[in-house]
Amino acid sequence: MIRIYKILQRIFVIALITSCSPEIKETPDQGKHELEKRVTELLNKMSLDEKIGQMSQIDPGMVGSDEDIEQAVREGRYGSFLNLLGAERVNELQKIAVEESRLGIPLIFARDVIHGFKTIFPIPLGMAASWNPEIVKKAFRISAIEASSVGIKWTFAPMIDITWDPRWGRIAESCGEDPYLASVLSKAMVEGIQGEDLTDPTSVAACAKHYVGYGFSEAGRDYNTTYISESLLRNVVLKPFKAAQKAGALTFMSAFNDLNGVPTSGNKFTLRQILRNEWNYDGMVVSDWASVEEMISHGFCADKKEAALKAIQAGVDMEMASDTYSNHIADLLAEGEIDIKLIDEAVKNILRVKIKLGLFENPYIELKAGQKILNKEFLAHAQTVARESIVLLKNEKKTLPLSEDIKSVAVIGPLADAPRDQLGTWVFDGEAKHSVTPITAIKQLLGDKKVNYAQTLKFSRDEDKSRFAKAKLAAKKSDAIVFFAGEEWILSGEGQCRGEINLPGAQTELIEELKKTGKPLVLVFMAGRPLAIGKELTMADAVLYAWHGGTMAGPAITDILFGKYAPSGKLPVTFVKGAGQIPFYYYRKNTGRPSSNKHWTHIDDISVENPQNSLGYKSHHLDYGFTPLLPFGYGLTYTTFEYADLKLSEDEITTDGSIEVSATITNTGQREATEIAQLYIRDRVGSITRPVKELKSYTRVTIKPGEKAQVKFKLTKDDLEFFNGEKIVVEAGEFDVWVGTDSDSGLHGEFSIIN
Ligand code: NOJ
Repeated sequence: MIRIYKILQRIFVIALITSCSPEIKETPDQGKHELEKRVTELLNKMSLDEKIGQMSQIDPGMVGSDEDIEQAVREGRYGSFLNLLGAERVNELQKIAVEESRLGIPLIFARDVIHGFKTIFPIPLGMAASWNPEIVKKAFRISAIEASSVGIKWTFAPMIDITWDPRWGRIAESCGEDPYLASVLSKAMVEGIQGEDLTDPTSVAACAKHYVGYGFSEAGRDYNTTYISESLLRNVVLKPFKAAQKAGALTFMSAFNDLNGVPTSGNKFTLRQILRNEWNYDGMVVSDWASVEEMISHGFCADKKEAALKAIQAGVDMEMASDTYSNHIADLLAEGEIDIKLIDEAVKNILRVKIKLGLFENPYIELKAGQKILNKEFLAHAQTVARESIVLLKNEKKTLPLSEDIKSVAVIGPLADAPRDQLGTWVFDGEAKHSVTPITAIKQLLGDKKVNYAQTLKFSRDEDKSRFAKAKLAAKKSDAIVFFAGEEWILSGEGQCRGEINLPGAQTELIEELKKTGKPLVLVFMAGRPLAIGKELTMADAVLYAWHGGTMAGPAITDILFGKYAPSGKLPVTFVKGAGQIPFYYYRKNTGRPSSNKHWTHIDDISVENPQNSLGYKSHHLDYGFTPLLPFGYGLTYTTFEYADLKLSEDEITTDGSIEVSATITNTGQREATEIAQLYIRDRVGSITRPVKELKSYTRVTIKPGEKAQVKFKLTKDDLEFFNGEKIVVEAGEFDVWVGTDSDSGLHGEFSIIN
């Protein structure tokens, strides 16, 4: 009898939920009103336990047997699972949630789909090197289509932490150092993941992470302390998050790090004041894995109960993996430590996401997974993105592109045929067996006979030199050497940080040996971070930086090596000379004592007797000097571009004015190629010191040999304003503007802002 009653009750509730669904898309305000009404009606039916259940996310492995998991779902103990795999199982559990739990609230299944699900795209840092939001958006759309086909409706991407530290393994997952570029890509990623219509079966909820400051972990040691001033936070670190919010990211993830003494999962300033109050964010905040409980280790909370208290007070709606909410929220409420309003607010944020995704109407997935993964179109796009992510760092004597008619080529090195490594970090579902490696692609193009392959080092850290002689033999009988250098995938990513960022193993020594053969030497780097490659760069005739390029890295690199496409990638991070130079980023401050060649003596040129005042008293290292190895924005191609004719529409504007900037670019070389023209500004004097350069815009332009193109930019108030420690301001004064090929060059102009 009770069972029949429960079933009837469920049918009634489901009918009620369905009848409240906003079927007619009216004005945004009406839609919002309907949504809020629906959320509130459902909330009003929920028991305290059901509310707390919605606020908990768990990995099935942590729950117990299949029966335990099913019972937990029936009782509404979890609002979400992460890492639950298999379309059938997803549907089974969803059926229990929808048909057997008291209110029939659907679960949301989450997983880390960071740069592809089955079709793996380049690591996000590689995608960032394309500077191309359209192809990045499509890559994330494809990831969402593949992931949703097996039931994943929420992914923990995009990762949009700004970082200046290549030691930090998670730089691989980031868009690099620049807030403007990261914001452009953040928007593209969110739009790709979520699609045009959230209720579409292929739409997946995005999660802007890690909110916030995680990329500033001390010394690049993962999970470490961060100290970030409010102006750095607002002028740099928050920018891509704001872009994600504006693009409609349904969820945010609070991070692991302690920010200025307050762990970010208990940080009222960043979560409540900035995200909720200033930005009016109405999405859901999930904590990073056990980061609520970890506030005990941080020394911010005495026990789990206090951790739950601080997290909910700060505004974490759903707790991932740890159980402080499920065990302590009810007591905190009973003891009057928290108001029910805090719980209701969290649950509303969660329900809103589930409703927006259409999970109540379409809780199940179609079981036709096979058709939606790794198809031709997806693989072709993976090849396009990998190709556009490649950056040409050096090309002496036009060594590249190699001719397809080359008689023979020596392919050497640990990354030439490393199918798992080329996929990069954060790949749970992509498989090495689908990777097309460089050696396969080169052999496909040239035929086996022309390729003298000598892997020589079996993996990137291999120190075994016993096969060096064979490698030299292969080089000697070839017309050119292509050496695939880099890092294994496991050397970057979460928890995979390095103190030194040089090329591991005996790779550099092998390159030295190959150099001795006198054959044209091309280096292709496949790595999860910008490595310190000064020595190798000097030895090589040509260098490509190809990151971990994903499933189709091999064909993409081959396309560039043999000139089917001209490279167009630009560095999304500064390349340092050595780890001791970190942090080194292009939008640094000038300091009171900027250095220059005039002021700097290299350590080897300092005689023993030199007096102290001979050393310049300027801001530099005696060994590294004052410049990086390669600047942000740098990247060559197979032609040359000349910039001329910088024009500014005004010399002077008011604080709310705008200015148009244009320049002409001529392709002075022999072939068509794409240039990414960049616009930087400098605000010479500010109420707080301002960076020496800031990227404010860029544009892609493809130009035929001998032809010209005009590039145009517009600088508005949004580009000129900054947070000065107290408020957002546009300040009167003199500004520099540059339009050029990277952050270290460009045509220069000036303008003023007057009050
Ligand atoms: C920890 C990582 O920091 C985060 O990026 C990831 O999304 C979660 N684990 C879930 O796997």
